[in-house]
Amino acid sequence: MDYVITGDGSNTLFNQQIGEHYHSKHGALQEAKHVFLKSGLEFYLERNPNKEVSILEIGFGTGLNFILAADYCTMNAVKLSYCGIEAFPLDSAVIQNIGYNSFVSELLWQHFNESYSKALLNLVTVNSLIDLQIAHQKVLTFETDHQYDIIYFDAFAAVHQPEMWTDETLAHVTKFLKTGGVFVTYAITGNLKRSMKALGFAIEKAPGAPGKREMLRAIKL
Ligand SMILES: C[S@@+](CC[C@H](N)C(=O)[O-])C[C@H]1O[C@@H](n2cnc3c(N)ncnc32)[C@H](O)[C@@H]1O
Repeated sequence: MDYVITGDGSNTLFNQQIGEHYHSKHGALQEAKHVFLKSGLEFYLERNPNKEVSILEIGFGTGLNFILAADYCTMNAVKLSYCGIEAFPLDSAVIQNIGYNSFVSELLWQHFNESYSKALLNLVTVNSLIDLQIAHQKVLTFETDHQYDIIYFDAFAAVHQPEMWTDETLAHVTKFLKTGGVFVTYAITGNLKRSMKALGFAIEKAPGAPGKREMLRAIKL
């Protein structure tokens, strides 16, 4: 798979089958930081100043959202339990060479690379604060008893993969979110807002990442 340089200089990938990039062409790093780290994790921790948090990500991909969350939690002494669902895991060499090493501490980058392949099979301890599991399966077959604090919904866009944005898929993933939990995604559409309201969420239009006016944040009531 070929690397593509985005607007902020960070790399992304292009998925030929789907016909879509893994991140915003305006900037992979700035999108990950804005939508998921700042509007998701930091937003949640400001309102719930816990020293423990759990995240479920739909579409683990390159692990960019994971490493940013793990670096933030490691620096702020917050325990993070992270589960990424990924139907088509990338080869570890593709991740190692994508150039995301400079976005996080050297030690975390090293621990992530050592953990990635193992996390596809089992829950792994990345460091004393961070646990990672990558569920190698399609989202609709994923089941867990865990109730997460935050959902990072990072599916390919609805025009390319509409089945990821249906009421069925949204109902399936949001049942793994706690009451008061935060759901974030980079997109916002009328259909998505209606679906999330019907699923019992308070909807918020938050400012979008560069290149997008708005994004959706939703709190489970
Ligand atoms: C927009 S990309 C995710 C980018 C990722 N969060 C990152 O930082 O690199 C969407 C991801 O969803 C995965 N995917 C596609 N269909 C899926 C399905 N049915 N279940 C789970 N994951 C799926 C793709 O393989 C891809 O990695």
